[in-house]
Amino acid sequence: MTADPALAEGFDLRRLDAAFYADPFPVYRALREHQPVKRLADGSLFLTRWADLDRIYRDTRIFSSDKHKEFRPKYGASPLYEHHTTSLVFNDPPLHTRVRRLIAGALMPRAIAAMEPGLHALVGRLLDAVAERGEADLIEDFAAAIPIEVIGNLLGVPVEERGPLRGWSLAILGALEPVVTPEAATRGNAAVSDFLDYLRGLVARRRARPGDAATDVLTRLIEGEADGERLTEPELLHNCIFLLNAGHETTTNLIGNGLELLMRFPDQRARLLAEPGLIGTAIEEFLRYESSNQLGNRRAVAGTEVGGVAVAPGTLLTLCIGAANRDPARFENPDGLDVGRQPNRHLAFAGGPHMCAGMTLARLEGRIAIGAFLRRFPGYGPVGEAVRGGRARFRGFLSLPVRVA
Ligand code: HEM
Repeated sequence: MTADPALAEGFDLRRLDAAFYADPFPVYRALREHQPVKRLADGSLFLTRWADLDRIYRDTRIFSSDKHKEFRPKYGASPLYEHHTTSLVFNDPPLHTRVRRLIAGALMPRAIAAMEPGLHALVGRLLDAVAERGEADLIEDFAAAIPIEVIGNLLGVPVEERGPLRGWSLAILGALEPVVTPEAATRGNAAVSDFLDYLRGLVARRRARPGDAATDVLTRLIEGEADGERLTEPELLHNCIFLLNAGHETTTNLIGNGLELLMRFPDQRARLLAEPGLIGTAIEEFLRYESSNQLGNRRAVAGTEVGGVAVAPGTLLTLCIGAANRDPARFENPDGLDVGRQPNRHLAFAGGPHMCAGMTLARLEGRIAIGAFLRRFPGYGPVGEAVRGGRARFRGFLSLPVRVA
């Protein structure tokens, strides 16, 4: 049965309703089937097919990540504007190449492997606390607590100073939604300013007393590459903020969404319990099925064509990762959850030169957190109402109450 064409016809990214936030997949399906390259009222295009996204992510000659043009009217001259336009993800070469090299160098397997014992210990402590209470909010008490500690460790933020990190991150990411209210903009701007003030102090302390560049990412970003490549002070500060934001809500949502999916699909939970070795493919399937990051953007800098639709230079494109990852042209039975799915070339981490630089770390966190939770509480189940995040770009829960005993 084909999807209702009216869902595709009526789709407006600037006017999303509660039903969409709860379950956008019927709308995504209708768009993919009837208007896979949909022109929105503002002239931008909304894309839902896997093959189109895959091509666009790779072709940086035509599709730019530079957001100066788009963000100037959205944020004005403000801390949010300065932050986003200095982050590597919203830039093209040369800034992107320079920062990416330093960040990728700092997220080397050796640095990540060094985090593994600490991660097991942290997850163990969180699980002990959950066991003691018999109930937990999977987000607040578990999923959100993990990435914040991991990135705190990555940047060497002293434990007692980590309190405000999550709030800053949520406020900055909240201001990336398709529609930004004045309150969300005010919160986002205040968060960037406070975060910058904090980081200036942290960087000064680290310059005075450098850490081990093999494992301490901040020291590595401060010192730069052996060949003299260095970040300017604003580049350093804004990309530290970006690292925290990039790795925080996305990974929280991977853990929360994965544990929720295992409640929704008891057959897949039983399978994973019987075959714990499937945890690696299970994580990929959670990323595909409920992608933490649902929407990406690019701007065409030259005229081209996508799926038979002419694309003029300057056109803004929204790439719907959530829809592409359920495309039947790429995935067999795309609306079914299969924890052993292989191959599974999803686009949850995007693709091409901007592909997520933290994916090894995110996968490790997901494997350890979800694997350990399931082993410890194989019969966990919902208690009370789950609350979704209510965002189009980042998909996850604000609250997910469960009982474990
Ligand atoms: C499940 C967790 C995660 C998901 C789903 C995710 C997703 C993504 C996506 C889709 C992009 C590409 C954005 C674009 O070009 O439009 C990206 C970029 C990036 N991510 Fe992640 N991410 C995750 C976790 C992390 C973590 C843990 C870190 C590091 C601590 C991280 C660091 C980065 C960085 C530095 C970039 C920018 C890369 C570039 O522009 O070259 N991410 N991520």
